[in-house]
Amino acid sequence: MASCIRLVLLLILLCSPFITDAVNRDNFKRCDQSSFCRRCRGMESGKSPYQLLPDKLVQNESMIIVDLFNKDTGITYVVQLITLKENTFRLHINEKDPLHPKYENEYALHDQPQTVEMDFVESTAETITVTKGENKAILYINPFKVELYSQGILTISANARGLMRFEHLRTKPVKPEDGNAEMVRTNNTTYLSDGADNDPGAWEENFKEHHDAKPYGPEAIAMDFSFPGSEHAYGIPEHADSLALQSTKSTDPYRLYNLDVFEYETNERMSLYGAIPLLYAHGKERSSAVFWHNTAETWIDILSSADNNVVESIVNFVSRSIKKSQVDAHFMSESGVIDVFFMLGPKPLDVFRQYTVLTGTAPLPQMFTLGYHQSRWNYNDQDDVATIAESFDTHDIPLEAIWLDIEYTDSKKYFTWDARKFPNPLDMIHNLTAKGRKLVVIIDPHIKRDNNYFLHNDATSLGYYIKTRDGKDYEGWCWPGASSYLDFFDPKVVDYYTGLYSLDKFHGTTNDVYIWNDMNEPSVFNGPEITAPKDLIHHGGWEHRDVHNINGHMYIRATYDALFRRSGGSLRPFILTRSFFAGSQRYAAMWTGDNMADWNHLRVSYPMCLSVAISGMSFCGADVGGFFKNPDSELFIRWYQAATWLPFFRQHSHIETKRREPWTFNDETTQIVREALRLRYSYLPLWYTLFREHEINGYPVIRPLWTHYPTESETFIIDDELLLGDSILVRPVFQSSATEVAVYFPGEGKVTWYDIDTMQAYEKGGYVKIPVTIHKIPVFQKSGSVVPRKMRIRRSTVAMRNDPYTLIIIADSNGRASGNLYIDDEVSFEYRHGKYLYLRITLDSNKIVSTLIDKLASYETQSWLERIDIANPPQGIKSAQLESHSMGKVTLETTYNPHNNVLTIRKPAVNMGEEWTIELLQ
Ligand SMILES: *[C@@H]1O[C@H](CO)[C@@H](O)[C@H](O)[C@H]1NC(C)=O
Ligand SMILES: *[C@@H]1O[C@H](CO)[C@@H](O)[C@H](O)[C@H]1NC(C)=O
Ligand SMILES: *[C@@H]1O[C@H](CO)[C@@H](O)[C@H](O)[C@H]1NC(C)=O
Ligand SMILES: *[C@@H]1O[C@H](CO)[C@@H](O)[C@H](O)[C@H]1NC(C)=O
Repeated sequence: MASCIRLVLLLILLCSPFITDAVNRDNFKRCDQSSFCRRCRGMESGKSPYQLLPDKLVQNESMIIVDLFNKDTGITYVVQLITLKENTFRLHINEKDPLHPKYENEYALHDQPQTVEMDFVESTAETITVTKGENKAILYINPFKVELYSQGILTISANARGLMRFEHLRTKPVKPEDGNAEMVRTNNTTYLSDGADNDPGAWEENFKEHHDAKPYGPEAIAMDFSFPGSEHAYGIPEHADSLALQSTKSTDPYRLYNLDVFEYETNERMSLYGAIPLLYAHGKERSSAVFWHNTAETWIDILSSADNNVVESIVNFVSRSIKKSQVDAHFMSESGVIDVFFMLGPKPLDVFRQYTVLTGTAPLPQMFTLGYHQSRWNYNDQDDVATIAESFDTHDIPLEAIWLDIEYTDSKKYFTWDARKFPNPLDMIHNLTAKGRKLVVIIDPHIKRDNNYFLHNDATSLGYYIKTRDGKDYEGWCWPGASSYLDFFDPKVVDYYTGLYSLDKFHGTTNDVYIWNDMNEPSVFNGPEITAPKDLIHHGGWEHRDVHNINGHMYIRATYDALFRRSGGSLRPFILTRSFFAGSQRYAAMWTGDNMADWNHLRVSYPMCLSVAISGMSFCGADVGGFFKNPDSELFIRWYQAATWLPFFRQHSHIETKRREPWTFNDETTQIVREALRLRYSYLPLWYTLFREHEINGYPVIRPLWTHYPTESETFIIDDELLLGDSILVRPVFQSSATEVAVYFPGEGKVTWYDIDTMQAYEKGGYVKIPVTIHKIPVFQKSGSVVPRKMRIRRSTVAMRNDPYTLIIIADSNGRASGNLYIDDEVSFEYRHGKYLYLRITLDSNKIVSTLIDKLASYETQSWLERIDIANPPQGIKSAQLESHSMGKVTLETTYNPHNNVLTIRKPAVNMGEEWTIELLQ
């Protein structure tokens, strides 16, 4: 009984904490509470002990290999420099003769990176230079440093500040307090101490009541990177912070260690659920990036020009000294090897592509995933689900899927149903799909330790759980109570788990049920920092320490395979994940986790999604309305209006919040939310086209303004606006009672922006105050663009599949415009076998032309062209003539609206699969 009461208390304390508005910082480490972070951060610059031994240089056409010696310790390392395609270099450093292998992750990269031949390698007494096209890498011998040049300009340097650290593997010293005495490293080598041996945290470490055994001792790695000419750094998500990274000179470094941070706060560099160790640097001249390929806990210090990190380098004749801008970063990881990719741009879109060449792009999602999703912890039972779905129809609000949180299961045993609340799941699903809708259910990685649970029994008998140091099944505490965790690093476990999703195993599901993977950091309520202990053991004997940040990625990788297998490879899987790593875009969409119903959290959803979008993961959203607490109707409305322009669009809320479906406030709120959702649906053809283009070229779907205006310094810190593709500019309202917002119009006056509702033109670049009411937020379309829309909004995307298209064309000052439209069956992988249409639509010399970009592809669509609106049209157009193969020549009526200067062509009625021309006639 006593233990039962303790369990209940634990449950109350841990599983259902009172909502207090503030994160409990004591639960999470600061850098000074982590021995490896302390050691790495404590390095002094300008004293690098590393020196290349160039007489040992070995090379082949795409790689040089050279020894590196640490003069302080006497340890030898091996440096590899590899030339890769797409302006990318890879630098790899490991010990020459390690005591045992170090972990090298193979799951973030989507393939073996493709090498290219070097042009030539030159050696002098001081340097080794590798040249490839317009790029070169110079390796300095003593002290060791690497400089990367793009188009003759120094773009990135590594170890320029001498903060490289590579703690060699060693046996535990008998008397660690012996300071710098010579130590026997192993069988027969000796080394001098690097200071790690006498760090009290080197061989075991405590945090709160948790003990970390650290049997392998100190094994940290670190490297500094400088980006001369760069003004800002971006990336290294996930943090609830600004898009442009801030100096960490007087704060903790940014931390990457996937954690379930309860009630996380904004303006923070603390860890969150996901980690992508990718850092961009950008200045007016160029963009570049560093991908730190390491899956262990990582901290990153950032310095900017304002921190006086560069010496005054240019003095002009009137002796007015100017400082060159520079960004400096310092990556520090607990274990693993140094493995870094340098991407040399030079433009932002080039770097974005270069990164996705390494880690892959997101596969095109099904159309329904881009519509609107309704979730709640929890929809209580099947009647609740039916009522909610029906209410969307009653209120004429489109909806794609209803989501079920953990309470649908039998006692949090995944792959089961609570038979009392959901006696007829197949019937429930059928009722949803009859209206073109889907069901999404949650599946989490913690497995209830219950002898009546088949999954627990299987995992126990097959040995599929993550183990403790002494080989027992690790037991933690999560939603079901006592839980263990499947080890997704074991291929046998992946195989077993993917089988669980087959329709004959996961009873009560169909191919229309999609999956939400939560808690996959993993979240462990009673673990150190609410996660798994670092000294747990995974498949292959690797410590959890080595792989922690990619744990969630391994889970969704398995789920993706499972859904792929379930439909026999015919349907595109959809998974939503909370935890992620570099490369996770290949498997899942992500959301920003358990946010709060306040204006700061609404505001931070933009930089958070922009940050992951430029890090390969475009498919991002934030819980609409805020997960914790209750939004008022104004915040609720503003949240919908902002979320209309983020890729993943789902309302979700905590079990203790009030019901907040779109009709639960008042009629005006319902009406405005309905308008926002209808607007979202009308732009789905653009969203879908951009997702397809992302899959092809790696460009993010939503973009920071500097992506397309890289020389415009004002854009560098803007993260309350975004670009959808390059044609739509969005500036939500992030404040209560706003009557105007300052919109920055990029393009320095060479681009005109048109309000999408009124077609009012904004010709001047820079900040303009735009009045706002509660009814809408400022959204603009760029001059010179063509945007495809669908104007007949129905209850779901399935119902809209064959609907006709409308084209919104905005002529630039030369009377030209262009844009793309992608069309396919919206659900299957047939597009990979050429079943699609990819159209280029242009306006030039009074002719609108639709041509197939991929002539060999084809798809039989029933959709036709319903209407064309041309803003800023040529003067004096009286009619138009359509010409196509099947229709011949047809004269079309045009109407001109002088109030907004828009020419409309109604009912061209040509099938979208045909090439056509419409000539505007005076
Ligand atoms: C170059 O050498 C490395 C290391 O021996 C090897 O892995 C790689 O395949 C070689 N590349 C080529 C193009 O021969
Ligand atoms: C130490 O000895 C073991 C066993 O003989 C051997 O595998 C390992 O390579 C040796 N290590 C070093 C650094 O010589
Ligand atoms: C270490 O090296 C010494 C001399 O080089 C040799 O005599 C001794 O046997 C070696 N010890 C081991 C354990 O290999
Ligand atoms: C499905 O719809 C039918 C017809 O409206 C209804 O009778 C039935 O109760 C529904 N089933 C569930 C599980 O919602």
